[in-house]
Amino acid sequence: MSPTSTTVELFDQYVMPTYGRFPLQLARGAGSRIWDEAGREYLDFGAGIAVTSVGHCHPKVTARMTEQMATLVHTSNLYYTRPQGELAKRLVEIVGAPGKIFFCNSGAEANEALYKLARKFGNETNGFAHPNAGTSNPDAPLRRGIVTMLGSFHGRTLGGIAATGQDKVKKGFEPMVEGYRHIAFNDVAALSDAMEDPDTAAVLLEPIQGEGGIHAADAAYLRGARAICDQRSCLLMFDEVQCGLGRTGDWNGWDSLAPDIKPDAVSWAKGIAGGFPVGAVWVSARLVQMRSGEVKPLCDLLGQGSHGTTFGGTPLMCVGALEVLSIIEREHLLENVRQQGRHAVAGLQALHSVWIREIRSVGLMIGIEMVADFASRCMLPAGKAPSIFLVERLHEAGLLTIPSGTHTLRWLPPLNVSEADIDEAIQILGGVLSALPQV
Ligand SMILES: Cc1ncc(COP(=O)(O)O)c(C=O)c1O
Repeated sequence: MSPTSTTVELFDQYVMPTYGRFPLQLARGAGSRIWDEAGREYLDFGAGIAVTSVGHCHPKVTARMTEQMATLVHTSNLYYTRPQGELAKRLVEIVGAPGKIFFCNSGAEANEALYKLARKFGNETNGFAHPNAGTSNPDAPLRRGIVTMLGSFHGRTLGGIAATGQDKVKKGFEPMVEGYRHIAFNDVAALSDAMEDPDTAAVLLEPIQGEGGIHAADAAYLRGARAICDQRSCLLMFDEVQCGLGRTGDWNGWDSLAPDIKPDAVSWAKGIAGGFPVGAVWVSARLVQMRSGEVKPLCDLLGQGSHGTTFGGTPLMCVGALEVLSIIEREHLLENVRQQGRHAVAGLQALHSVWIREIRSVGLMIGIEMVADFASRCMLPAGKAPSIFLVERLHEAGLLTIPSGTHTLRWLPPLNVSEADIDEAIQILGGVLSALPQV
């Protein structure tokens, strides 16, 4: 390979082909803009995939992390570091209920902590402790099942693909990790039936399915799930990797849907640290009854030696995350998300495009679904998904968006996106749609 190889040539030869990549070679970003190697500017309405939540290279995040780079980047979790403690406190405040945090490096890894929590809960406890405890039963049947939703996405580890309710991620990786059962999303009756199985220890769901195409759970569903989990003494766990930490216009995705409930555990990643890889898990301090009879907080169930990771909670990532969260607060970005989310949906509706079947949104998680016969009406080549076709056209027009399934475009702009950026994106999409052949 010559020193003049293009970036694509380097990838072709040296990077494993796990991703279908669009032919953009990106080099630099600032705010909601990104530039390719040739210096062409794009409006980035993917923000990675819901990652650069305060825009690319926010100067305050850059400054804070640069300062920390020169102070202490890493030390083992065998020791205490102040930024980890402070970030944990901030995340507990964001959930708004007593609990504790575990730090890791990605969404899949955060979910792994949830699966392990569910296993410990099912193997070592008799469920939540009742006020009139004393009912511990060391011989009660173990509970090892985790119920998840069809259409969900929970990451690419072996546990993650077993938990994910989409066959395409499992193909070729059998046998699956045991213990996961997928049921219809947003269907209280299906959940209630599944929970009849005495093996069930936990339910894991995305309050708003992201990879699945922006599908929000109903408030009644989330409340029903909470009630059923309480009745059965099962954990209710929310995957907020994509919908959490401000993206919906509230700190917590579920707060935008059913603010009166709390889960027992939450996973986050993506937007926490402005693009730096971070995952985290919150676990409630609700009391559980151990089979041994001891009563302890759920958040202490994964005890010493039961879980860990070398890089989780490193000082560098924690100061980055603290800065991102404080920017969201100081710059009133939750309000901006709600306002710009409404503005985007109104503008998209005003396109009155014959190609758009449905617009689904919560805050700045926006799914734009195309009509079912898009491919035939546009005479797309066989096998070409309308979402991919449109994403490519939008690239040519200077807008980055994320495909979701075959027919949906996802807009996940940074939380500090401006009204002018939204108007520009709508104008670009409108232009691309109106240039399509009208057959
Ligand atoms: C809801 C959800 N959970 C988990 C993941 C996996 O996160 P990561 O890619 O950081 O492992 C994703 C990634 O898209 C996600 O959207």
